[in-house]
Amino acid sequence: VAPASPAVGSEVGALETPVAVIDLGVLERNIAELASYSKSHGIALTPHAKTHKSLAIASRQIAAGAAALTVAKPGEAEVFSALGVPILAHYPPVGAARAHRLAAVAARVPLTVALDSTAAADMLAAALGRAGGVAEVLVELDVGVNRTGVRSVDEAIVIAEHVDNCAHIELAGISCYPGHVEEGPHLSRELSAVNETLTECRSRFEAKGLRVARISGGSTPTALSAHETIMTEMRPGTYVFLDRAEVADDALDRCALRVLTTVVSRDGHQFVLDAGSKTLSDARARTRPGWGTILNAQTWEVAELHEEHAVCVAGDRGQAPQVGERLEVIPNHACTCVNLHDQLVGVRDGVVEEIFKVDARGCVR
Ligand SMILES: Cc1ncc(COP(=O)(O)O)c(C=O)c1O
Repeated sequence: VAPASPAVGSEVGALETPVAVIDLGVLERNIAELASYSKSHGIALTPHAKTHKSLAIASRQIAAGAAALTVAKPGEAEVFSALGVPILAHYPPVGAARAHRLAAVAARVPLTVALDSTAAADMLAAALGRAGGVAEVLVELDVGVNRTGVRSVDEAIVIAEHVDNCAHIELAGISCYPGHVEEGPHLSRELSAVNETLTECRSRFEAKGLRVARISGGSTPTALSAHETIMTEMRPGTYVFLDRAEVADDALDRCALRVLTTVVSRDGHQFVLDAGSKTLSDARARTRPGWGTILNAQTWEVAELHEEHAVCVAGDRGQAPQVGERLEVIPNHACTCVNLHDQLVGVRDGVVEEIFKVDARGCVR
């Protein structure tokens, strides 16, 4: 017998577990809050679609005012270009296949690519040349994550001048990902250091006649502080769902994504849920131990993760829940959790209202 598919109109209590559910009221609140913030500050919202990987959820962001969508790899760009909005591919377009696929996307929608080397600019320009297309380019600066992005404004200028001299690509400005800046007392100070780098880069570009029409940045922790910077557009992704890595325990009701699980075993104060690393993902929450938070029972710890089991401990060595009880877990990292699921089940008032396909699931190329 095939597993029962979640159906619109069914009660949440009837869903087979484990299942990723989206609280639609929370989702709508998260989307509306940032849309209204970006509108009131005149900062374009270009949400990163990697979090939900879903056309239906992206459409809701666009309906609320998102100007474009950000993606990482070409597979995501291909999926989301179906919506007809501009795409920002924020990943170095290195490799013939990657550049070629991006060039095909540029034939469908306005494309911007963030890159950090002259080699990447050449590969993109060559692919666009073959396809007869154009794209805008943002030069990526590393502002503290220590991942992609050039480490100095001098290097950014070298790349920008190179882009300026390439056919088929047009310099549009600069980009950064302030992923090292976390929620907390140091946020403003750290973001202000990022802003100093952006400001220096902008003035030195301008002094050389290099175009800075766009300054892209943004992450979920810094999203509501973007107005303290010179960013003209921001790319938060996780904000749409939020997760345990982003939200304090007393605000977990802001998390739209939950994994509904069932207690399958218990022994005294220990119990086991039917969701492991293949359901929740094994991402860590930077500052906190454990593999998720059990909603409404936060003293129960998700202590150990196996592929299909989460071994939990009832707080204060109290009684564990009964076998068969259903519990909602807020995963540590929404983006990696979602990528494990074909569908997300949208729920309101305990009833399934919409099923979201995870259209770009597994698009790692
Ligand atoms: C380049 C880039 N931009 C934006 C984001 C979105 O940040 P967040 O997950 O904090 O919403 C990410 C996340 O990894 C990213 O890599």
